[in-house]
This record gives sequence, C-alpha cells and structure tokens, in this order.
Amino acid sequence: MTSPTTTQQAETTPLDLRDPSFRDRAYGIYDDLRAGCPMSKVRFVTRDDDGGALPGDDRRREMLEGDCWLVTHFDEGVEAMLDDRFTVNPARLLPPEQLAAMQAQAATADNELGRALGRNLLNLDPPDHTRLRRLVQPSFTGRNIAAMDDRVRRIAADLLDAAEREAAERGESAPYRMMDLVRSFAYPLPVTVISDMVGIPAEDRGKARTWTENLLKIDRADPEQAADIQQRLLEFVDYLKDLFEKRRREPQDDLISRLVRAEEDGDTLSPDELLSMVFIVYVAGFVTTVNLIGNVTVGLLSHTDALAAFRADPSLARNAVEETLRFWGPAESTLPRTAMEDVEIGGVVIRAGERIRAGLAAMDRDPEKFANPNVYDITRADANRHVAFGKGVHVCLGAPLARLEGEIAVETLFGRYPELRLAVPREEIRWSQDLLRGFERIPLLF
Ligand code: HEM
Repeated sequence: MTSPTTTQQAETTPLDLRDPSFRDRAYGIYDDLRAGCPMSKVRFVTRDDDGGALPGDDRRREMLEGDCWLVTHFDEGVEAMLDDRFTVNPARLLPPEQLAAMQAQAATADNELGRALGRNLLNLDPPDHTRLRRLVQPSFTGRNIAAMDDRVRRIAADLLDAAEREAAERGESAPYRMMDLVRSFAYPLPVTVISDMVGIPAEDRGKARTWTENLLKIDRADPEQAADIQQRLLEFVDYLKDLFEKRRREPQDDLISRLVRAEEDGDTLSPDELLSMVFIVYVAGFVTTVNLIGNVTVGLLSHTDALAAFRADPSLARNAVEETLRFWGPAESTLPRTAMEDVEIGGVVIRAGERIRAGLAAMDRDPEKFANPNVYDITRADANRHVAFGKGVHVCLGAPLARLEGEIAVETLFGRYPELRLAVPREEIRWSQDLLRGFERIPLLF
C-alpha cells in the first residue's frame, strides 16, 4: 500500500482555459496526470494576472481559480463526491467573527447579485440543500420528464421547419442547405424547453436570452465585458422579481408558480432562495444541454464507425447520447469542494481548508473503468456508467431532461436528414472558449 502523499510534495499543473487548444489537449493532460496519482494539484487559469474581474462576487472568482486537487481516477472521484467531510460552502470554515463580517458584507446593496443568486443548490450543503432540493425534485422525476416527450419533439420539429424556411429563402435546396446547428437548433431547443418549464413567457424569451448570454465565457482580462455581464444579470433579477409578482396574482402550471406558493406557505423558501432557485434551474437547464446536442451531433458525424452503426440501428440514439456524455461531457469537473478536516482518499491527504474537484472528464476516460476509453463507441454496453452528471447530493437535477432532449435531438435531426453532414472538416469546428466543453459553431449541410 502506498503511504499518504502530502500537499508539500505535489506540484501544481496549470490548466489554461484561455488557451484555444486546451480542450483538444485536455484528455492527453488528464492521461498524464492519471498515470501518476489518483489526484493532482492543478490551477484553472481563466484570466490574465493584470486585471479583469469575473462577473458576480469574489466568491465566484475564488470558485474558478486558485489551486485545487483534481481527481482523475474514477473510483476515487466518486468517493470524493460522496464524502460529506467536503463542503461546497467554504465560509463554514471561517471563525465566527470573520463569518459574521462576511455575512454583513454579503448583505450590502453593492453585492446585490451575490445575495440574490448565491443561495442556490450548488452553493449549499445539507440540511439547507436538502430542504431546497426537495421543492424542485418532483418536477424532474423520470415520469414527469417522460411526459414532456411530445412537446420536446414538437419544438425540435418546429426549429428544423424554421431552418428549412431560412435555407429556402436563401435559395438553397437539399442536400446542400446550410445551417449553424448551434444557432438554429442546439441552443433554442433547450432554452425553449426550460423556459416553458420554469414559466418564462414566450414574448420575454429573447430578453432572457440576452441577459444570460456569455455567462460562462472565459474572461480575458476585460473588465468591461465582466461589468456588462453583471449588469445584464441584474436586469434579469429585476425581471424575475416582477414575474414572481405576476405569478402570485395569477398562478400557472409552471415551476415559478409552484415555488412562489411554497414561499407563501411558510418558511420553506426565503425570497433570495426563490430567486436563486429559479436562476440556477433556468441557466443550468440550457447552458450544458446546448453542448450535449452539439457534441453528440459532431460525435456521430465525425466518427465513421459510430455513424454507420447508428444509421444501421437508429435505436442506438440513447446510447449515442450516453457515450457522448462519457467521451465529450459538457462539464469538465464538478465545482470545487473544501475539506473541513484532513481527508485521505486513494493514499492522498487533502488537508483541511484545501479544495478538490472531481475531474469528471478525466474520470470518464479512466482505463480502469472503461475499456479503450479514448475510442468513441456508441455500441459500448457500459456507456451510461459515466459521471458526466456528477454524483452524491449535488448530482444533476436535470439529468433526465438533458437525456430526453439529447435523444430527441438526435432522432429528429438524423431521422429527418439521411444525408446530414458537416459542412467543413471536423478540425475546423472549434471548441468554444467557455467554462464548458462545446462547439462555438457547427456548420452543417442538410
Ligand atoms: C448535458 C446536460 C447537463 C450536464 C452535463 C449537467 C451536469 C451537471 C453536473 C456535473 C452537476 C453537478 C455539479 C457539481 O457537483 O459541482 C449538475 C448539477 C445541477 N444541474 Fe445539471 N447538467 C446538465 C443538464 C441540466 C439540466 C437540463 C438542468 C435543468 C434543470 C440541470 C440542473 C442542474 C442543477 C439545478 C444542478 C445543481 C444540483 C444540486 O446542487 O443539487 N442540469 N449538473
């Protein structure tokens, strides 16, 4: 048995998310890190040293940057996600007087955004997390999501009708019509679905989109861009507050109406928690799924064997989605957790106060878990054993919805266009410089 490694011995590997080639190189880097140890010290670099604030409060910057352990081995990563000696709320480690000072700062008017959106599921530990998650979990059960099948199919078909009309207006005909999949399909599909579910009226969706655009873009030392994102978010918060009032007066069959009722029913949900919840469900509901739809489409169109297997057996759509989540999962890692005491995992000691992330993308390419992990194989029987949705109390709330949307997207696109193909070579389709793994634009011929 190996003796525990200490922090002092570990070197820090910088992972530069601003580098356009990072996403292409990431799996090689993970392979190297994994060969050495179950977890490694890394630093995600998202901004130049000489300036540029990330939108939101300091806590958000703190979450993205700074040294942390990245777990690259599958079993140890799962162990870390299930270990309740880690907290998502590092304020819990502060001495009482510092905590009080921090809470007083958090309550000030100039931290409106942090206050309004900070009490979301991803930032809270049990028991607050448990109380809040219980309020939304019923809307996301497999059965309730399956009931949305027809509606999602209709939205997908309408979007492709619109792309066909646009192509016809440009004088293009099949199979030489062009579309940018991201703009015409992968983005609007999940935005429309989650807006319906949350209860954002159709006429306001354009605005909601503008307010939440660029939220996850990598900051390139551009304080103006950061201020702009922050300003838009404040407008979104104001808009949501007005919408809550409307739903209080006239409830509808949507998530906002249900949560507003829960807030009124007693002390289950504070006003800030209501805002944070609607915000996180809305944003998490589309930012990741856009990338899943894009990644599975490019995955199939750029891997000849996978495409042939799928064309021969379209019932592989679900498994193609699972394999894409494993092979090109949108979330590279979980958000960081902080050790509340010394914790030993896989022979490594994570000292109290140190941070750790489960490296989901690295874990899903662990050869101890998946045979030939760097091969994209949609017929793999164990594809769905990936951890692209995380594990433990923070496991993705929207996983059943993301799976449904991914499957319907593949079935609709490939079912409708047998000659669908990439309009440019795969190498020319670039990963976006964003906190998630996904393509910026996907030019297709259909
Ligand atoms: C392919 C699509 C998606 C991926 C890859 C994904 C991934 C993840 C991951 C990895 C986490 C855990 C993060 C952590 O532990 O730090 C998470 C949490 C979460 N996801 Fe997703 N997600 C997807 C789609 C969705 C959708 C459609 C929704 C819609 C509501 C959603 C809502 C959430 C929420 C609310 C959380 C926080 C859960 C909690 O803290 O209890 N996600 N997601």
